[in-house]
Amino acid sequence: MTLDVQGTTMARLGVLGSGKGSNFVALAHACNAGKIPASIAIVISDVPDAGILDRARALGIPACYLPPGPFRTKLDEQSEEAYVAALRDAGVDYVVLAGFMRVLKGRFLRAYPNRVVNIHPSLLPAFRGLEAWKQALDYGVKVTGVTVHFVDEGVDTGPIIAQAAVMVEDDDTAASLHQRIQQVEHELYPAAVAALVRGELQIEGRKVRRLTRAGW
Ligand code: GAR
Repeated sequence: MTLDVQGTTMARLGVLGSGKGSNFVALAHACNAGKIPASIAIVISDVPDAGILDRARALGIPACYLPPGPFRTKLDEQSEEAYVAALRDAGVDYVVLAGFMRVLKGRFLRAYPNRVVNIHPSLLPAFRGLEAWKQALDYGVKVTGVTVHFVDEGVDTGPIIAQAAVMVEDDDTAASLHQRIQQVEHELYPAAVAALVRGELQIEGRKVRRLTRAGW
């Protein structure tokens, strides 16, 4: 934690992403606007030329590529240690996954218990895994959406913090549906992360209780 100019406690976020970084930008703007009482201390990517790294540097936020190791869908043990070390060196309190396309395992999650969150582009538990908006379109559902959840060792299985629905239109393409889902992500994720860092969330088994009555 750090203090802002008024002496208020500010959480430090570490953002992990593999893609273009639009959710990271939404989070960074929300931090700058004071909507999340936090600052983004570091951005880490497993993809050397990921857009999220350029977008972080453009905003003056430290950003680095850390190699993920030999596996396609997870970090190997050595890489997990390197990721945790970089986050700890940056004084990170909460880890926010923003399009990070690898599963995190015990070593990482034990370093940040109940402090790692993810955004997923469907209404979980439907359409876990890759390109969830395309899975929803191909399945023919009429409503899909966005889920923010705590991260556990499964694939998109952790306790759910917040969800929002997005209607599927008859003429949607994968791209048009993902675009509308992303617009919702950019509102829901900052609101959920704000509740997290304000200490408003309580986990009871699979259920996440919000201690305030404010809407998302
Ligand atoms: C987002 O739509 C996010 O929900 C998704 O990747 C995209 C990243 O976009 N994440 C997953 O599918 C995780 N299972 P961004 O790089 O523009 O934030």
